[in-house]
Amino acid sequence: MNKPVKQVVGLIVVTAALLIGSVASAQPKTVKDGVFTAEQALAGEMVYESNCKTCHDMKFYKNTLRSWNSQPLVYLWETIMGTMPADNPGSMMLKEYTNVLAYILSENGFPSGDVALDPDHGMDAISIVSP
Ligand code: HEC
Repeated sequence: MNKPVKQVVGLIVVTAALLIGSVASAQPKTVKDGVFTAEQALAGEMVYESNCKTCHDMKFYKNTLRSWNSQPLVYLWETIMGTMPADNPGSMMLKEYTNVLAYILSENGFPSGDVALDPDHGMDAISIVSP
């Protein structure tokens, strides 16, 4: 009688460990989940004013986010970094590209949160949703 109980308990422990493991590694999120901080958006506004504003208005970014619906956010970050500003691609610091993306998300109505947006940590698991 002892043995089956142990087996059942063991199975529960293994199942719980698997569940915790998968939650910790995958953590799928969207840009609605507060994926950047208010400080990043504020810093990004200055980057935007001096490097992006001359060529695009906010409506352009809204349309861009729409067309990138359900894509990983890190792809958009990489695209912006590789191609923008169009007159001098890749000229800004990595942090500035991240901050400007936070500002663009914030201006399109997505909330800030407690954890900073970081291209090296989990940004591939954040999906864009249409604003
Ligand atoms: C000198 C003009 C110019 C500047 C400055 C500029 N862009 Fe662009 N950007 C363009 C052009 C041209 C395109 C491609 C044509 C289009 O879609 O309008 C583009 C496209 C984009 C796209 C769409 C990419 C895609 O594949 O969907 C994004 C996002 C973008 N720019 C963000 C930025 C950001 C962020 C900055 C500031 C860091 C910036 N741009 C600065 C001219 C500019």
